[in-house]
Amino acid sequence: MTMTELPRHAEHSDGRQATTDDSLRAWVAEIAALTRPDEVVWCDGSMQEADLLTKQLVAEGKLIRLNPEWRPNSFLARTDPADVARVEDRTFICSVEPEDAGPTNNWRDPEAMRTELRAVFAGSMRGRTMYVVPFSMGPLDSPMSRLGVEITDSPYVVVSMGIMTRVGTSVLELIESGVPWVATVHSVGAPLSGDDGAHHDDVAWPSNPTKYIVQFPETREIWSYGSGYGGNALLAKKAFALRIASVMARDEGWLAEHMLLIKVTSPEGRAYHIAAAFPSASGKTNLAMLRPTIPGWTVETIGDDIAWLRQGPDGRLRAINPEAGFFGVAPGTGMDTNLTAVETLWGNTIFTNVALRDDGDVWWEGLTPTPPEHLIDWQGNDWTPDSGRPAAHPNSRFTVSAAQSPSISDDWNNPDGVPIDAILFGGRRATNVPLVVEARDWQHGVFIGATMSSEKTAAAEGVVGELRRDPFAMLPFCGYNMADYWAHWLRVGERLGFHAPAIFQVNWFRKSGDGRFLWPGFGENSRVIEWIIRRLEGAAGAIESPIGRLPITDELTMDGLDISADDLAALFEVNRESWLAESELTAEFFARFDGRVPAALNAELASLRYHLTR
Ligand code: GTP
Ligand code: SPV
Ligand code: MN
Repeated sequence: MTMTELPRHAEHSDGRQATTDDSLRAWVAEIAALTRPDEVVWCDGSMQEADLLTKQLVAEGKLIRLNPEWRPNSFLARTDPADVARVEDRTFICSVEPEDAGPTNNWRDPEAMRTELRAVFAGSMRGRTMYVVPFSMGPLDSPMSRLGVEITDSPYVVVSMGIMTRVGTSVLELIESGVPWVATVHSVGAPLSGDDGAHHDDVAWPSNPTKYIVQFPETREIWSYGSGYGGNALLAKKAFALRIASVMARDEGWLAEHMLLIKVTSPEGRAYHIAAAFPSASGKTNLAMLRPTIPGWTVETIGDDIAWLRQGPDGRLRAINPEAGFFGVAPGTGMDTNLTAVETLWGNTIFTNVALRDDGDVWWEGLTPTPPEHLIDWQGNDWTPDSGRPAAHPNSRFTVSAAQSPSISDDWNNPDGVPIDAILFGGRRATNVPLVVEARDWQHGVFIGATMSSEKTAAAEGVVGELRRDPFAMLPFCGYNMADYWAHWLRVGERLGFHAPAIFQVNWFRKSGDGRFLWPGFGENSRVIEWIIRRLEGAAGAIESPIGRLPITDELTMDGLDISADDLAALFEVNRESWLAESELTAEFFARFDGRVPAALNAELASLRYHLTR
């Protein structure tokens, strides 16, 4: 192709017109003119398309086909070692006013950012194919769903988007009928030829050391450059379904949240739905696929990462999972911790940065109690158990269709969503936060969500283990001023009135003085779920404390659990001194918002301090 010639961008290769929608055609043409790909391909999300792309990626050495005897239609991708997690310091919210991004986001002036982006995207797809991926977040027939289109030069992203979202020509038809859509542009930032026509060889995982993950909340646009990984590149997920959707939700009166969704059925056959916000890599997938250890209870999966919630015609808060797949943390996913996930991954799965077994299957820390004697690690090097380094990257992940999970609920595609009975907030807290505590009311619950903190995990770059504020588990995902987001939550609660779900705080991660987890967690968390449901039913008692309502420990089902009385007491201890110290930090945190924190939350903080000193 000559330098000035542009690929045909409005037709399929056989000449059929790709879409009749003028605005979509014009946008695709504009991005092609900027990024200069060799070819433009309109994706239909079909199995043939995924098959073609994965075959091509295998032929190019960019995916490894796993042994089909163990793991049919499954693949391993190894990323560049510098492209393994979300890059929060390169994630920008470009609202017109800096205060609309708030102190917890990286704000950049939209016009200045547009200039920067135009420069890096210019010619960024040279020598590559540009894919146009129309997708729906949520079932196509749901009034709660929203449409988007991702342009990307990464076939790995195309295949992943096909699993994680609903991709297809029916989405195009909706766009053509006038349904609004969000425009998202992604480039790995590794053109195969320069301005001068010089050719560069491709690598197994193209990316660029300079990365941009950019959201324009006012114009509902997303631009991502330089990374091919996860939340950086699958723009339907964090960038759209959380950052942009949280802004849409604020404007339209709903909630876009970093939450799992489950259906819980009691031994009496009563069904309840729970939404739970935990920070990245802190147990959402585990709870979403919980296998109760107590008899008579069942848990079904509706979602494991994102929930969109809105008041339904019946007045209740209803939720959908906007995604269609799981992009789950591999390490720690094992027979004993999450058998359902292990079963879900039997085939049709893309693994990224896990280890390769000699028999062509995969392995990661925690899959089995004893590691194989020899592996190829996530960077492609020989590995043995005494190598002294993990075989799989701590943020290695699996990408698999939600429908493939044996625990998936019949309701997961329900266009009306499911009615939410309880909302849980949880973080990784070695100290202070009890196993479970019930909020006194919605306002207190919003205070609990707003003051959440958690120890950092490998899901993003940074120091693992460091305690940080992570309100509503949304710190990296709220597309506007976090204080305004809290005000929005308070407004939603007012509108819900007596229909508002109950709110609880949970913490599976409390530790003893000598650093042991006090609570066994995983399947045993069903005991906490039971108490929560019994509270909803008015069947379990509680004790008032300065931080909320605690269980009467005698009423918790502890049969079959080997936990000492001391540990149980430690799990529920409310230490006034350390809570007062934490309240100081909360006051400092609130002060960062320049008076935008809702009065109701300042009142909650004052009340907490009063009750702690009384
Ligand atoms: P994202 O996909 O990053 O948003 O995170 P997620 O919350 O879905 O992460 P996931 O469920 O995969 O979290 C995995 C981590 O949480 C692993 O390190 C697990 O061992 C740990 N984990 C999950 N449940 C428990 C639990 O009950 N107790 C303890 N101690 N660890 C748990
Ligand atoms: C998270 O970090 O919360 C994730 C993984 O769910 S990613 O999609 O990479 O953001
Ligand atoms: Mn997440």
